[in-house]
Amino acid sequence: MELYFRKSSIAARRAMCEAAMQIDHASNRGFNEVKLAQNIISEITGHEYVRIVNSGNSAILSAMSSFNGKILIPDQGGWSGFKSIAEYRGLEVIEVPTELGVINPLVLEDIIVKYKPEALFITSFAGYIAEQPVKKLFELCNDNNVILVEDASGGIGDNEGKLCNGKHAHVIVASTGSPKIVNVGNGGFISTGDNDFFKKSKFILKTLKADPITCKGIFNEMSNASSILSKSVEACEFIKREFKSSIHADKRGVNVAIRVDEPKRVGYLLRQKLNVEGRCIVTVCPRYDRALVNAICIEIKNLDVQCMENDTLKEIIQIIKEVSGDI
Ligand SMILES: Cc1ncc(COP(=O)(O)O)c(C=O)c1O
Repeated sequence: MELYFRKSSIAARRAMCEAAMQIDHASNRGFNEVKLAQNIISEITGHEYVRIVNSGNSAILSAMSSFNGKILIPDQGGWSGFKSIAEYRGLEVIEVPTELGVINPLVLEDIIVKYKPEALFITSFAGYIAEQPVKKLFELCNDNNVILVEDASGGIGDNEGKLCNGKHAHVIVASTGSPKIVNVGNGGFISTGDNDFFKKSKFILKTLKADPITCKGIFNEMSNASSILSKSVEACEFIKREFKSSIHADKRGVNVAIRVDEPKRVGYLLRQKLNVEGRCIVTVCPRYDRALVNAICIEIKNLDVQCMENDTLKEIIQIIKEVSGDI
């Protein structure tokens, strides 16, 4: 079985090469490439205002630069950058108790009443493993004047319209680095429906802006997002069915987490067997970015979609079963 790490499409790479040759930095400075990428992100998120930046963390830093009050984040299954960037900005962070990363709106309501935060930062999928109830969380935040920031690095192009949807998020941030759903190898974006939001972060947005070649890559790669996301979700569903101990088996995700007693040992053995061009598709938990329990996480989001055929997935399942002893 050959497994391939997710790469940018040939079309996107070619478009980026062409942009590198064509952009005339002295005159137009790539304004067209920036505009095209902003427009397509605006179409996908439904947010009117978009800025393209050089990474996902830059998008989070830009968002956090607009806040001075308390920030809520999930107690697990978030992105570790939420904590480190809040710390860098000197913002107080409150962790919301979760069910293995997934926030219960009733619990969130109590936390909001108790701490009166300015914003909630979540990822579309807790730990890339399980979909957050984004709409419900948004409604609660909206009613309580809390800004919901959705990190949609794993959720761009959701054809169910639940994730990366500006109707259910005041602000959307995302990484378009590698290996993500929009996989340019570089870049990120931030979008919102509130133009005032960017006034507070004008300087940082200018400082962290993406180059026009990245913008060209984002514009081209965006059209693949929907099919990459739905194939990744289907592949995870196929694998999850086979393991009684998989976490959040009933929820959509782009990674599969399976509880095991000895995650380090199982993770080590799996890494030997699931070799993906020398790269890794196995994460050992507990880990804040995934789940804080003993588990191994199979990072389907890192796989090229050509490896998501049933026959390949069956081989992956067999290897996990052999190594983890769950037959
Ligand atoms: C959910 C999430 N958000 C943000 C980032 C940071 O993105 P970047 O590496 O582009 O800064 C990552 C990186 O893995 C991520 O997984």
